[in-house]
Order: sequence, then C-alpha cells, then structure tokens
Amino acid sequence: PSTAALKGRRVIVTSGPTHEPIDPVRYIGNRSSGKQGHAIAAAAREAGAEVTLVSGPVALADPWGVTTIHVETAREMQQAVEQALPADIFVGAAAVADWRVVEAAPEKIKKGAKNPPSLALVENPDILAAIGRRKRDRPALVAGFAAETDRLIEHAEAKRLSKGCDIIVANHVGAGANVFGGDRNEVTLISAAGRESWPNLTKTEVAARLVAAFAKKLSEARQ
Ligand code: PMT
Repeated sequence: PSTAALKGRRVIVTSGPTHEPIDPVRYIGNRSSGKQGHAIAAAAREAGAEVTLVSGPVALADPWGVTTIHVETAREMQQAVEQALPADIFVGAAAVADWRVVEAAPEKIKKGAKNPPSLALVENPDILAAIGRRKRDRPALVAGFAAETDRLIEHAEAKRLSKGCDIIVANHVGAGANVFGGDRNEVTLISAAGRESWPNLTKTEVAARLVAAFAKKLSEARQ
C-alpha cells in the first residue's frame, strides 16, 4: 500500500512507559519496552515523514532519522508533545502511568521500624485525550492504543470516543499475550468507519501496516 501521503508530513509518536517517582530511588510505572512505538516512529520516517518521538525510559536505541526526546514522567511527556506541535498525525503508543505520587520524597525513604509507607496518588494528565480534544492545532489524524485485558473491543471503542481519537489500536495484553517487551502484537484497528483485525504479526509489520493505514486516512481526509 502507498504511503506517499506521509511524505513531508509531521508525525509525533509517544512510546515506552512513564516513571513516576516515589523518591529518588523508586518509581511506579506501567509495563512497556517501547518496541511498538519506536517501530511506528521508524516506519513513519521510512515513509518520508518528519518524525518526533517522545520516549519514556526504554533500553532501545533512538530510531535513525527521528528526532527523539527523552522524558521520564507523564507530565514531562505531555510538555514535550505540546512543544512538538503542530503535527499532521499524533500516535499515542506510550504506556503512560495513570497516576503519580502526590509528592515524591526528596530523600530515599528508609526501610525500617515504622509501617511501610502508604502512597497518596493523583491522576496524571491524559496526553492522548488532550490532543484529541484540542480546538487549536489538532492533528488531522489522532491515533491511540488501548491495552486491555478483558472486553477488548468494547473498552477500546469507549476509549476512542472518550479520548476524541480518529483511530484506536486495540491490543489484548492479558496473561500469556506476551505483548509487553515481546516482538509480536495482534491488534484490531477501530475507527468510525469500522473495525479491522490483523493476524499476529511482528511489531515491525504492525508498524508498517499502521503507517499505511494512517497514510490512507490522511489522503481520504484531504479529498
Ligand atoms: O512497548 P511494548 O513493549 O512494545 O508494548 C506495546 C504496548 C502494549 C505498550 C502498546 O502497544 C500499547 O498498547 N500502548 C498503550 C498502552 C496503554 O497505556 O494503554 P491504555 O489503554 O492505558 O491507554 C490508552 C491510550 O491513552 C494510549 O494511547 C495511551 O498512550 C494514552 N494515555 C493514557 C493515559 C494517559 N495519562 N495519557 C495517555 O496519553
């Protein structure tokens, strides 16, 4: 499939987890290696797009030819995404921590005599929803992921609507799926036009197909 519509287009991709500090030593975070998000950034670059990748802490090399911004927390990720706007396409592949500790301790919390600490949490900003609902500078195409362990399609479609996305990529991450950190992924693409389930593919193949689907949507939207 042709990806010509992506040539020279600006694409922002988020990838990897975010880490929310408890103290200088410990954090809470989601599972994610960044493999899927980084593969999407690389595939978009290969299609001729100008790509900014905003990555949480991962053990991967920065993709060739992609402007990569390294962040740690959800709030840093949001700020980096906003600074990278405007863009034609936004892809939220990061596993952003939904909550952070209200106030991280400035020094290492000592293990010891008293009870284990209890963590007061507060909700993080939703980066994807903020982009999807923007009035000014909203990318022409906003795509998110939905990582679900149950009622995949139902939960994914609800996320597409509530976060104002054009496309949601539903992936089952329940026990045994081995998606986090693995090299393969099995996804269903959901848009207002309907659903498309793909077979189990490598993350590189998923990325190439997604980029082709984005190019198609972008050229349809321009007609
Ligand atoms: O990194 P890998 O090991 O390759 O694994 C890939 C993956 C499973 C992490 C990836 O394919 C994936 O599904 N990413 C999204 C994971 C996730 O956090 O899903 P969610 O259902 O919790 O979030 C839904 C969407 O909202 C996502 O696009 C997420 O980036 C976005 N979000 C969520 C919370 C938040 N505060 N801000 C966000 O932008």
